[in-house]
Amino acid sequence: MTYDEKIEAEPAKLALNYTREAGLLPEPVPLDPYRTKDFFEAERDNVFGRSWLVLARIEELPNIGDYLVREIEVLGASVILTHARDGQIRAFHNVCSHRANQVVWDKKGNASRLLCRYHNWTYGNDGRLIGVPDEGSFENLDKAKCGLSKITCEVWEGFVFVNLERQPSTTLKEFLGDLGPYLEGIEYKYADNPIVIEAELECNWKVALDAFMEAYHIPAIHANTIGKTFSSQDNKFAHILGARFFGPHRSAALYGNPDYVPSGEAYVERLAYEAMGTANVVAAGSKDDMASYLAHPAVNFPKAKEWVHDVHVIFPNFHIDTGQGGFLTHQFWPLTPNTCRYEARFYIAEADNARLRFMQEAYICRVLEVLLEDLSNVKRTQRGIDSGGKDFMVLQQNEVMIRHSVHHVERWARAHSVAEATA
Ligand code: FES
Ligand SMILES: [Fe+2]
Repeated sequence: MTYDEKIEAEPAKLALNYTREAGLLPEPVPLDPYRTKDFFEAERDNVFGRSWLVLARIEELPNIGDYLVREIEVLGASVILTHARDGQIRAFHNVCSHRANQVVWDKKGNASRLLCRYHNWTYGNDGRLIGVPDEGSFENLDKAKCGLSKITCEVWEGFVFVNLERQPSTTLKEFLGDLGPYLEGIEYKYADNPIVIEAELECNWKVALDAFMEAYHIPAIHANTIGKTFSSQDNKFAHILGARFFGPHRSAALYGNPDYVPSGEAYVERLAYEAMGTANVVAAGSKDDMASYLAHPAVNFPKAKEWVHDVHVIFPNFHIDTGQGGFLTHQFWPLTPNTCRYEARFYIAEADNARLRFMQEAYICRVLEVLLEDLSNVKRTQRGIDSGGKDFMVLQQNEVMIRHSVHHVERWARAHSVAEATA
C-alpha cells in the first residue's frame, strides 16, 4: 500500500504530525543500514560518493597560499583545499601526477607552491604543474595535462563543500534546494575561533548522527547536566517546538525551559550564566551580541520564548546547530560499518576579559560533560544493533529527524542516480 493509500484508508491514525509532515509513515525503521557491509558499500558509493560534503569553513583558509588537507576515509580520498592568488578556494586530490604519491603530508600550511617530496614535482596552488626535475628525460610529457586532479568545490555561506563525483549530478544550489535560501544570511559569529573536538567512535556514523537529532534522550541520559534546561514540568519529555523538511535535509527547533534556574549548590553554573539574561542554555556569547543573529527567520523559527537551539542537518552528515549563544557544528564520517570519526566545532568569542574567559571555560566543561554522556553511549547502541537481537527500531514523533535521515540515506543508497534518489 502506498503512503497516500494508507492516508486514505486510515486518516485518523495519520493526523497531522511531524512524521506525516516529513512525508513518512509511523512504521518501525530497519537496523540493517546500521550494520551490514552491503549497505555500507552502497552508502559509500551512492550517498557519500554523490553528495556535496562540507570540508571546512573559509576562515580556516584566510590567506593566499593557505592550504588544508582533509581525509574522506570512506571514499579513500585525501583532499587538498587551497586559497590561490585569484582568491578562489579550490579542491584537488592529494595525489601526484607523476607516480601518485601523496603530495602534501602535513594537515595545513601556507606555501606558494606544493611540492611532492618523492621526486620534487611542484604545483601551483591553482593546481597547475609548474616544475619537473630532469624534465628532458621524459618523452611526450604534456605538463598542461599533468596538474593536480580537480575536485568540484563550492563555497556557500562560508562553508566549503566538495563533490567527489567526476561530473557532479547536481550543483550545490540544486543539492541544498529550499534549505539553501532558508539558512542564507545567518550571521556565523566567531567563525574564526572554533574549539575543535575530534574522536573515533565505535559505532556506525548514523548512530552518532542520530544521538544529536532528538531531545527525547535528554531528560534521561543528561539528567545531571542539561536535563532540566531542555525539559520542564510543562514539557517533561523535551518535545520539540517544530520541524521542517527540505528534500533530504531537515531542521528542528528544540525546547528550552524558560524558567530554569541553576540550583543553589551549582555555584559555578550560577556565576557563569549570571550575565546571560537567561540561564536555560549553555552558551558562549551574550544575548546582546547575538541580537541580529537571533532575528534571522531560521534561528528559532517559531520565535518561541521556550527555545534553546536549532538543529539544521545538511544531508548526509553535517549539523549546524544555532543556539542562543552562537553556533556549533557536528560532523560524522563513516570509517567501517561500525566505526566512525566525529568532529565537533564550537565557535566562541575571543575572550577579552576575565569574566568572559570564565564563562567560556564553564561552557567548555559543560559541553564536554554533555558530549561524554552522548558519546559513551553510542558504543552500547552499536553493540545492541550488531548483536542481531533486533531487526527494527521504533521511533516516536519527536525522533522524526532520525526517521527522515534513515529514509533519505536508504533512498540515496539504493538509487541508481541522484535524479532517482531525489525524484
Ligand atoms: S610521485 Fe610525486 S614527484 Fe614522483
Ligand atoms: Fe545528547
